[in-house]
Amino acid sequence: MKQIFKATLVGLAASLAMSSAAALDIGTDERMKLVLRPDERHLVLFEMRSFLHTLQVISDAALREDMQAVADAARSMGSGAANLIPPLTVAKLPPTFQMLAGTVHTTFDAMALDAESLGDPVHTQRQMTQMLQTCNACHGIYQVAVEEPFPRLKKKR
Ligand code: HEC
Repeated sequence: MKQIFKATLVGLAASLAMSSAAALDIGTDERMKLVLRPDERHLVLFEMRSFLHTLQVISDAALREDMQAVADAARSMGSGAANLIPPLTVAKLPPTFQMLAGTVHTTFDAMALDAESLGDPVHTQRQMTQMLQTCNACHGIYQVAVEEPFPRLKKKR
């Protein structure tokens, strides 16, 4: 048992050393900052994790050729799904961001419709691959930054 633990630690140390070596030439984070309040950041990131979760469910369902499960999962993230992000927050997001987010939702719509009408898991896989390009495109452009609170007022003496 102890031996296994040691081996795991050595493995972990080696992979950390390798990743920090690879990290040397990644430069600095120059992506455009979306400045949001902490609660807005939470909503945006929650939606992101839901995207990832839904893709995982779809990938699993497609492998099992359960096309109804593919359709249900895709529809839960489609353009008809409840929009968590309030209009005032959406208004802070640049047009390109909104366009790319819209593409993700309409691709989920198409995945749901096609899963029901074609029932072809390979087609679903192609749609996922295409969607991942949109995910990557947006991640390459933007980062989320948290709005600075107002500076504290100085107390009068
Ligand atoms: C319209 C732009 C956009 C699209 C499209 C997009 N993302 Fe994101 N995503 C972001 C931004 C911005 C962040 C925050 C990145 C940062 O601050 O470094 C993020 C963060 C994430 C995170 C991290 C969440 C967390 O809790 O920290 C995950 C996971 C994620 N995205 C998954 C996806 C997946 C999967 C897709 C495609 C289905 C996708 N995103 C599409 C903009 C986008």
